[in-house]
Amino acid sequence: METIRLPRVMQEMAIREKRAGRTMGFVPTMGALHDGHLSLVKTARSENDLVAVSLFVNPTQFSAGEDFDRYPRAVSEDLEKLSSSGLADFVFLPETQNIYPPDFSTRVEVEGLSERMCGAFRPGHFQGVATIVLKLLNIIQPARAYFGQKDYQQSVIIEKMVKDLNLPLEVAVCPTVREADGLAMSSRNAYLSPGERNAAPALYRALQAGAAALAEGRRDAGGLRALMEGVLRAEPLFSAVDYISAFDAGTLEELENIDKNTVLLAGAARIGTTRLIDNLLVNNLK
Ligand code: PAJ
Repeated sequence: METIRLPRVMQEMAIREKRAGRTMGFVPTMGALHDGHLSLVKTARSENDLVAVSLFVNPTQFSAGEDFDRYPRAVSEDLEKLSSSGLADFVFLPETQNIYPPDFSTRVEVEGLSERMCGAFRPGHFQGVATIVLKLLNIIQPARAYFGQKDYQQSVIIEKMVKDLNLPLEVAVCPTVREADGLAMSSRNAYLSPGERNAAPALYRALQAGAAALAEGRRDAGGLRALMEGVLRAEPLFSAVDYISAFDAGTLEELENIDKNTVLLAGAARIGTTRLIDNLLVNNLK
């Protein structure tokens, strides 16, 4: 496994491999790796000749007042996990000043999709995500890039950017990996106190209650919203609920009437100072 820090060196290596006819699978991450990240790396390994993983806590996707400064950083543990797994050929570990030099001035905006759901609560977040992901794709030149369903909105925005900008790669979206009690794995779970950690699976339980109601034939979005919010708020440590609702899985618009075959149930809520998100895709409704 080779660790590369300079974007130019990484890109030259990637171009060389591509010319030699080898396919690259790429997993972008912000590090503090857990089994959710590693499941993407495993899938990339099984579908490509080579695998690259990036570790970069991207400052432009954090708004002022968010958790950029305290975001968990665990580079030596991450390198150890990747190297002992034997799954990665390249780790791209850039320095911020080499990704965003002082004269950097380009932004990628996927309009519409970026304003919905989490976008309404994190202005500029998805512009930061789209910009860094496009840069990373241009540096690493993968045949396939791997994202987690855990960040469903992010994956839809990346798929749209790839389509709109004719990027020559496939986007793969892999299932959410959960703890035994249902909590979706996340680097941010490290912020949770033991009591908060205990309470956190209520978000998943709320979404499951919504999915069960849909399976029983419930179709009023307002009632579904109230049901899910009730399950979530029964856990008093969830202090603020940004949203928990049913959305169109393609456009990410909130549904008023549930008349689709597939529905996205998704929620975002704060527990203490930690903002958690989760979602479930419910299929075969018609
Ligand atoms: P990060 O939160 O580190 O996540 C990296 C990738 O791992 C994302 O595609 C995310 O959806 C996936 N992932 C996280 N938790 C997961 C879980 N429990 N199960 C399955 N996949 C999971 O998402 C980002 O970083 C950044 O926004 C990034 C795309 C790297 C751009 O900076």
